[in-house]
Amino acid sequence: MKNFLSAHDVKNIDSLVQTALSYKADPLKDKKLGTDKRIGMLFLNPSMRTRLSTQIAAQNLGAEAIVFNVDKEGWALEFEEEAIMSGNKVEHVKDAAPIMGNYFDILCIRTFPGLKNKEEDYSELYINQFVKYSGIPVVSLESSTLHPLQSLTDLITINETLGFPRVAIRRPKIVLTWAPHVKALPQAVANSFSQWVNAWGQADFVITHPEDYELDEQFTKGATITHDQDEALKDADFIYVKNWSTFSDYGKIYCNDPEWMLTQEKLRQTNNAKVMHCLPVRRNVELSDEILDSPSSIVTQEASNRVWAAQAVLAELLKK
Ligand code: CP
Repeated sequence: MKNFLSAHDVKNIDSLVQTALSYKADPLKDKKLGTDKRIGMLFLNPSMRTRLSTQIAAQNLGAEAIVFNVDKEGWALEFEEEAIMSGNKVEHVKDAAPIMGNYFDILCIRTFPGLKNKEEDYSELYINQFVKYSGIPVVSLESSTLHPLQSLTDLITINETLGFPRVAIRRPKIVLTWAPHVKALPQAVANSFSQWVNAWGQADFVITHPEDYELDEQFTKGATITHDQDEALKDADFIYVKNWSTFSDYGKIYCNDPEWMLTQEKLRQTNNAKVMHCLPVRRNVELSDEILDSPSSIVTQEASNRVWAAQAVLAELLKK
């Protein structure tokens, strides 16, 4: 693994899941791996789980994680090549990234999309410029279009719940369902979850959303897609709940039908499904209290597993 930006950077997902679960069983087993190594964590956008879990993961490996909230504490960065920097951008990534490459052994970056220009967001300019100019391995802490540490965590949690290694009786049914929200949110978590479940290839994968909320086919290809949420939920083993804004007519909220919020009534048609969400969640908008506070919800287990996903990825990069 050179960088960790998407499922395509991972040769064997099962093996990475297994490594993560081995860290969960024995968090300090590679305590010396990161001795004298520094991990830079750049945040261009807010975070709670990703920031804390990655810092804990680095600490478990004996590495030092240094957090830099670029959005609040740093110079405004320019990312465009050949930009005439006469506006409010103070420093070019071409100058900043190589310095970070000298300060750190691994660079982790969170950068959200603007949701104004699809081509710009889907070009992943920000994170790709750090890859191009830092000269060290780059880990996505969520980019414009993908959230790979979250998706690895999600597969760890699904495998852990199913029992790993697993003697498969049947393929689990995993459903990604759109949920209402008050804001236009990125497609990153939904794209990424789709990409990873498809790459893992060991589930029947169904995506359900209202009309006009189609995701980019490059991530969803292989999944069954339906606008009928009830049909999708039938016999589901796992339900992944997430809002996203429109992809085609980019970054909009069309329908915000509260009927799309998952309820206990809807859960009855599932195979006693476990409910997942990446968090933060808008209670009683995206997901009801009755589900979040019930044994069906595994969101806390899922968020806790963020540490082991980050530790498995950092360890693989440190070993290189
Ligand atoms: N799920 C997730 O990425 O949470 P944070 O935004 O708090 O890091």
